Amino acid sequence: MRLRYVLPCAVALFGFSMADAQSVSTSSIPHLEKRGMATQLIVDGRPFLILAGELSNSASSSMEYMAPYWPKLAAANMNTVLAAVTWELVEPEPGKFDFALVDGAIREARRNHLRLIFLWFGSWKNGESNYTPLWVKKNQKQYPLFLAENGQVITYLSVFKEANWKADANAFAALMRHIREVDGDAHTVIMMQVENEVGCPGGTRDQVPEAKAAFEAPVPKQLMDYMAKNKEKLVPEFRQYWEAAGGKTSGTWAEVFGNQPMTNEIFMAWYYAQYVGKVAKAGKAEYPLPMFVNVDLGEVIGQYSGGGALPMQLNVWQQGAPDIDIAAPDIYAPNIAAWCARYDRAGNPLWIPETRAEPSNAFYAIGNHAMGISPFGVERQADATTPLAQAYGLLAQAAPLILEAQAKGTIRGVTLNAEHATETVQLGNYSLAFSMGRMRQPAPMPAGGNAQPSSYAIVISTGPDDYVILGSGLQATFNGPGPSAAAVATLEEGTYVDGRWVPGRRLNGDDIMLNYDAPNKAIKNESGQGFRLAGGPPKALHLQIYRY
Ligand code: DGJ
Repeated sequence: MRLRYVLPCAVALFGFSMADAQSVSTSSIPHLEKRGMATQLIVDGRPFLILAGELSNSASSSMEYMAPYWPKLAAANMNTVLAAVTWELVEPEPGKFDFALVDGAIREARRNHLRLIFLWFGSWKNGESNYTPLWVKKNQKQYPLFLAENGQVITYLSVFKEANWKADANAFAALMRHIREVDGDAHTVIMMQVENEVGCPGGTRDQVPEAKAAFEAPVPKQLMDYMAKNKEKLVPEFRQYWEAAGGKTSGTWAEVFGNQPMTNEIFMAWYYAQYVGKVAKAGKAEYPLPMFVNVDLGEVIGQYSGGGALPMQLNVWQQGAPDIDIAAPDIYAPNIAAWCARYDRAGNPLWIPETRAEPSNAFYAIGNHAMGISPFGVERQADATTPLAQAYGLLAQAAPLILEAQAKGTIRGVTLNAEHATETVQLGNYSLAFSMGRMRQPAPMPAGGNAQPSSYAIVISTGPDDYVILGSGLQATFNGPGPSAAAVATLEEGTYVDGRWVPGRRLNGDDIMLNYDAPNKAIKNESGQGFRLAGGPPKALHLQIYRY
């Protein structure tokens, strides 16, 4: 075992010094913190990279059902499980609370060294109000539903009724109080999702009398003033939509935003945000864990739930629900890069609570500032041999380095496919030209029958001429500025053992030459040499570059 790089590079490569360790306050509640260029989740005083999986919707309603799965989730290298807590099971009778399932999940998570993020299925789950207690469902007079434009009642609690949010907030506050009582010291529960994919049919709005009156009233001053004062900071598509309608600074919703379906969505987004914000506020008054909403995504009205915290509505949600800390996209679409970019703006921290179990998604998101990622419906497929488990294994080992690089802005994620087969990353002194290239082993097909091989990497600049690359199924050459061409000084495979880099093979010869045309490449100031990551389980490389 060669430990040549351990001492000189320890802090740069692996993140945390003893000074950091001494500043740890184990009693601090998990919270979000801006560290350099990234907002990170701090758990027990340290930044925490969330390598999670979300259980299928009904899993956490039975401890017996879940019993065999907890150890498997831990064996799959997850450090966090996202589990539903439903209003109907927590408050089966008004004011009578039952937290047995919450306590059971906390107990099993602790036993398996896992953290928890609870998903509060309260008033809405995917727009529907199916998880409300029966005493709410059966009393529509007291807890009224959404009224569609054709007069039809839809099984969504109306956002505009005080009794609805008050009942939900009361239950959520009781849940947060209970979590503080049983977990306020141990911090097994690290974050809360408030509701699940809220929203109503795209382009429509509620027609209960209060909603009609609100639509005819002026756009609330809080939102209007924010827009007027922060024009430059607004999400561009939101600003454009407003300006196309005349950019007015007062008036009804139709006057300010125009008489179009998207105006209904902006209106509903404001009122969903107000409602969910009040629920979150009541919960935070009991125990202020970080809180987020997850978002059903889509490009075309009708293909997603209108009124949710969609990219276009980020400013609206931030103003309407200041106690919601994160708008978090559920990314099932193939284009993870575009969705990450649309949520990594307006000061919104990037966190992906639902996605497909593809390592490339995890590497891409985490390499581009995400505080973590959580594929959906994981319990039945969790074991140590899955591609996701292998990816999480490496990410867990490198987590201190990754978190430090996120804060410094010295990290990037890359994912390639047939439509996006090359990407050049400028980081440190060099630009690294990634391609799917000439891999020595075929990359595996990801689960789910997608015909694309998986090609992905995280690249971290650990010094002026020094990189750590984690990934699978791609290759890269590198070029630096200046008259002389760049070449490999050293290239090592390695692993992280207890957070330390342990070198494996020193790579040279065929393993660094991407072609044997070095002289012509040199004339063009191109490297000709590079690194290659075979398909299959992701690996780690340490690259040092020199110029000749
Ligand atoms: C998104 C929802 O938020 C999840 O609860 C789940 O229903 C998935 N869709 C199913 O694909």
